[in-house]
Amino acid sequence: MLTDPPYNIGGHMKSRGSGVHRLRENHFSICDWDNVDEDVWEQHMLELAEELFEKVKTGGAVVVFMAIIKVQTLKKIFEKAGFYYKTTGIWHKKNPMPRNMNLTFINSTESWLYFTKGKPSGTFNNDGKAIHDYFETGLTPKSEKAFGKHPTQKPLKLMSHLVSLLSNKGDVVCDPFCGSGTSLLAAKNLGRNYVGFDLNEEYLSITQKRLG
Ligand SMILES: C[S@@+](CC[C@H](N)C(=O)[O-])C[C@H]1O[C@@H](n2cnc3c(N)ncnc32)[C@H](O)[C@@H]1O
Repeated sequence: MLTDPPYNIGGHMKSRGSGVHRLRENHFSICDWDNVDEDVWEQHMLELAEELFEKVKTGGAVVVFMAIIKVQTLKKIFEKAGFYYKTTGIWHKKNPMPRNMNLTFINSTESWLYFTKGKPSGTFNNDGKAIHDYFETGLTPKSEKAFGKHPTQKPLKLMSHLVSLLSNKGDVVCDPFCGSGTSLLAAKNLGRNYVGFDLNEEYLSITQKRLG
């Protein structure tokens, strides 16, 4: 399972003081799926984790992208559902928008949490190499948005890195919040099977076009 669910930080961004009002203008504020009551979000994530626990095969990997400030919350939720927590990784964006660069640090990172089901080890195709717990790319290039834009589309390189390390050819990669389908396209390119879901039909149509 490789997914990038709503981080639910739209409300957090909107509630910032007027001195940093430009923070509100980032893409989170236009995503209504990113702005529900925190307790409701946590309950939804727990229901998701419990359902995934039923579906993921023993030894299978679960990778969930999350804002760094929510890592501990998500770790607890997935552990409660029965998953074994392995580690947290960081995606570093080499060319983030320099918003508020004279006020604060530029936001250039997101994290992913990595769990396994049923046993503490699973597929890890490192070919004897030391793999660091961060990955650097540029922002998603325009060429990957040829079929339409998604406000939080991940770069294909990032998803491909995780799919190739944590699954094998013929495995099924599932993304219940697939958006524009980046994780599924990575799976397809790497000879994995895939299944994806999203609430938004417009995003699903981008996914279908990307998958050909
Ligand atoms: C962070 S985006 C995923 C972006 C994706 N990784 C990509 O590269 O395009 C989260 C997605 O979750 C979808 N979503 C929000 N709530 C959902 C729900 N309850 N069930 C399914 N999808 C949902 C949104 O429509 C959005 O496309």
